[in-house]
Amino acid sequence: MAKVYFGMIVSLDGFVNDRDGKIGTLYESYKPHATTQEADENTGAVVMGRNSFEMAEDTDGYADHYEFQVPLFVLTHNPPVKHPKENDKLTITFITEGIEEAIRQARIVANGKDVLVLGANVCQQLLRANLADELQIAFAPVLLGEGVRFFEHLEEHEIHLEKSRVFETDKQVEVWYKILQQKKLATF
Ligand SMILES: NC(=O)c1ccc[n+]([C@@H]2O[C@H](COP(=O)([O-])OP(=O)(O)OC[C@H]3O[C@@H](n4cnc5c(N)ncnc54)[C@H](OP(=O)(O)O)[C@@H]3O)[C@@H](O)[C@H]2O)c1
Repeated sequence: MAKVYFGMIVSLDGFVNDRDGKIGTLYESYKPHATTQEADENTGAVVMGRNSFEMAEDTDGYADHYEFQVPLFVLTHNPPVKHPKENDKLTITFITEGIEEAIRQARIVANGKDVLVLGANVCQQLLRANLADELQIAFAPVLLGEGVRFFEHLEEHEIHLEKSRVFETDKQVEVWYKILQQKKLATF
């Protein structure tokens, strides 16, 4: 069944980028494995936050060489004046109405395939909204000390996971977790 999943590489101390906002250190030890291609091919739409989208130096480049040639949905409060380049497969929709709306539209165009979600802030919203099915997380063998934390602002939630698959590449370990259930905790 089609799922909504996160696909992120994190440092062992839980950061999705380094203190300069760069992801090179996390990616230098990353190597795709046989199942990566299968997962990529089964992805029918990508939802990301504006910060993740703008990691590309030139956002017109998505249409030319982004690994996922599928519709992209970018959450932002301020869509750019100049719409980035698109192609027959990769369209770009800026969503200002929130995470639920982004996932709703992405699911429709994914047409039975999976929806990938990228960006720490957006992933946290997805968890709080209880809209995620799976977490695919690759652990880079580094302690970055500072950066954007993947899991924070979740103080009111206890989220139970089940390990479903584990992949070992040369330097990283990747674990896929099913999201089982979530308890919203009382705050005082
Ligand atoms: N390690 C990895 O695998 C990996 C993968 C992807 C990204 N990253 C890193 O993660 C960083 C991005 O994570 P992040 O947490 O900083 O940001 P993010 O989740 O990518 O984007 C956050 C931005 O999205 C917009 N947004 C989020 N929720 C919204 C909502 N409900 N309604 C309207 N707009 C909304 C806002 O942009 P506006 O200010 O435009 O409104 C917000 O500032 C990147 O810079 C990159 O370094 C790492």
